Amino acid sequence: MRMQNKTAIVTGGAQGIGKAYSIGLAREGANVVIADLDEAKGRLLEESIRTSGGRALFVRTDVSKKEDTIALVQKAVDAFGAMGSPSVR
Ligand SMILES: NC(=O)c1ccc[n+]([C@@H]2O[C@H](COP(=O)([O-])OP(=O)(O)OC[C@H]3O[C@@H](n4cnc5c(N)ncnc54)[C@H](O)[C@@H]3O)[C@@H](O)[C@H]2O)c1
Repeated sequence: MRMQNKTAIVTGGAQGIGKAYSIGLAREGANVVIADLDEAKGRLLEESIRTSGGRALFVRTDVSKKEDTIALVQKAVDAFGAMGSPSVR
């Protein structure tokens, strides 16, 4: 549980390498924010991590769009608290 009380945003996190990171980080105790264009795969993975006892949030994101990335970070902070804040380390 090396990532307990940490939050990780995984871009492209619903499939492939990103999915492997999402699962691995959740297994290590992180709050995982799955940021991906693919809503169906992202929601499935969010559910699967939660069912396994992990903490995950899917946020549909196009990382090429600035407004999407700003909304992504806001949703991550809303769900899991301020990242990097000493209170959550
Ligand atoms: N698979 C490999 O062996 C390998 C090796 C070296 C580098 N890479 C690179 O690593 C990256 C990931 O590879 P992969 O095999 O996991 O790819 P993949 O196609 O399996 O997964 C990519 C994920 O990114 C998402 N995505 C694509 N565009 C997006 C966007 N604009 N915003 C948000 N999400 C977006 C897709 O929906 C998908 O879920 C790629 O850039 C690839 O070129 C892959």
